[in-house]
Amino acid sequence: MNSIAIDGPAGAGKSSIAKALSKRLGYIYIDTGAMYRAVALFFLENNVADGTDSRIESLLDKLEISIKYEDGAQKVILNGEDVTGKLRLEEIGKLASKFSAIGIVREKLVALQRKLAQKENVVMDGRDIGTVVLPNANLKIYLSASSKVRAKRRYLELLEKGHTDLDINDIEDEIIKRDEADMNRKISPLKQADDAYYLDSSDITLEEVVSKILSMVKEER
Ligand code: DC
Repeated sequence: MNSIAIDGPAGAGKSSIAKALSKRLGYIYIDTGAMYRAVALFFLENNVADGTDSRIESLLDKLEISIKYEDGAQKVILNGEDVTGKLRLEEIGKLASKFSAIGIVREKLVALQRKLAQKENVVMDGRDIGTVVLPNANLKIYLSASSKVRAKRRYLELLEKGHTDLDINDIEDEIIKRDEADMNRKISPLKQADDAYYLDSSDITLEEVVSKILSMVKEER
């Protein structure tokens, strides 16, 4: 099976790029951040405040996450319920970042992600795909952009989804804080894999990034 790993900080354009790439290549797109967000939602619904809660292990046994595709779009199913529409809020992103630092949470999701990549050609995005989940991926990209550009993209994404009452500076602060947490956690921190290509999408359009990656895919073949 072929796989493309895309890692990078929040709002770098990973999911838009991964979606476009998967369409062009006929691969399945797997958004691993959405899985961590679903775990966060589940813990939130069960009133788990942080990683020290003694119920985490038993709750994880009751947590079932799967993904399905509707018109090519990934849907996340949490214990039988499609929760996709509840996952994009920054509050959930923040919680996902917090709970993603817990070893047993990562073990469960990494196992699921590897299983999916064994069955299909995938474009997978996240924080540890090139370093941990798919160390033998055919192509690894580390995608970044300035925090200002990333905040603006998140702002526009939320606006388009109908959210009001948004402050772009607050969004940028949250993004910076989240990056710091993701880059400095003990287990599988966000970092560029040694064999990943670094791309900065601050000053080029996402379409240009997609073309660049497509030409890399051709070179790899
Ligand atoms: O990509 P995102 O914003 O949807 O991810 C939400 C959080 O989930 C992110 O801040 C850290 C965590 N995450 C992770 O630890 N590993 C991944 N492969 C994907 C996401």
